[in-house]
Amino acid sequence: MKRIGVLTSGGDAPGMNAAIRAVVRKAIFHDMEVYGVNYGFQGLINGDIKKMELGSVGDIIQRGGTMLYSARCEEFKTEEGQQKGIESLKKFGIEGLVVIGGDGSFMGAKKLTEKGYPCIGVPGTIDNDIPGTDFTIGFDTALNTISEAIDKIRDTATSHERTYIIEVMGRDAGDLALWAGLADGAESVLIPEAEDTIEDVVDRLRRGHERGKRHSIIIVAEGVGSGVDFAREVEKRADLETRVTVLGHTQRGGSPSASDRVLGSRLGASAVDLLLSGSAGRMVGIEKNEIVNHDILEVLEQKHTIDLDMYRLSKELSI
Ligand code: F6P
Repeated sequence: MKRIGVLTSGGDAPGMNAAIRAVVRKAIFHDMEVYGVNYGFQGLINGDIKKMELGSVGDIIQRGGTMLYSARCEEFKTEEGQQKGIESLKKFGIEGLVVIGGDGSFMGAKKLTEKGYPCIGVPGTIDNDIPGTDFTIGFDTALNTISEAIDKIRDTATSHERTYIIEVMGRDAGDLALWAGLADGAESVLIPEAEDTIEDVVDRLRRGHERGKRHSIIIVAEGVGSGVDFAREVEKRADLETRVTVLGHTQRGGSPSASDRVLGSRLGASAVDLLLSGSAGRMVGIEKNEIVNHDILEVLEQKHTIDLDMYRLSKELSI
């Protein structure tokens, strides 16, 4: 293989730039040419493709977002869209592609692989919801962003007798909420993978108040529902004053943590090694600090699970 491409697709995640840098530098190290595709699969369809050099990826490792931009592309889900993408690959002589993104992006990678264009997936999403890897690129940074925000909320919370509800991202996964709950000592964490009812949460709040707690912090994963609706229910049932913070897209921004930079670098480089060794349709990941790879189809067919022991622990510690 002499010429490969790289793209980022779906929601951006801090650390994607480190992964792009690793793909470009590792490929050039192995005497290959690298082309960057702007705006994910949309850019592939449009032929928005540029040659990358060693210097193209200088000074990006510390930056959030993705220097190749990103998009969610409906057209690439169609046969016609995929054919247009293949035309672009042919036009630029690209023989293999590294796709950095989440499960939606891996579906595109799978389709191209089936049509004879080897792709390797690199898990990049703040949600940490991809099977076959302990961590996805961006999760650690987003978690730290949430943690910093909750520390600030806690400062003001100690001055007022209120219940603070913080809605965090994660799509259908509760990882960000659960880890933030443990990291920030939240009184309750609501995640889609566990069946805590509003009564459980209200009971907990009441017990806390009886013990003299003046304020409480509750983290709600977006997969459970809206933090605003939840706050209304709490006010109704527990007669407590609430304040809601929806952290939203602040969670996707910011300079990547050292962990995400290292993870992006290791996974990006490993994707290039796989293409060089003739592999196709694989996803790289990290398990027990070892770089691994799995069939992308198996990854797509599995369901993401959460560590319920951690969930139990978060409850025990916020008793
Ligand atoms: O997948 C990353 C993510 O930030 C999710 O946590 C969230 O549900 C979604 O993307 C938001 O998507 P968008 O940026 O398209 O609004």
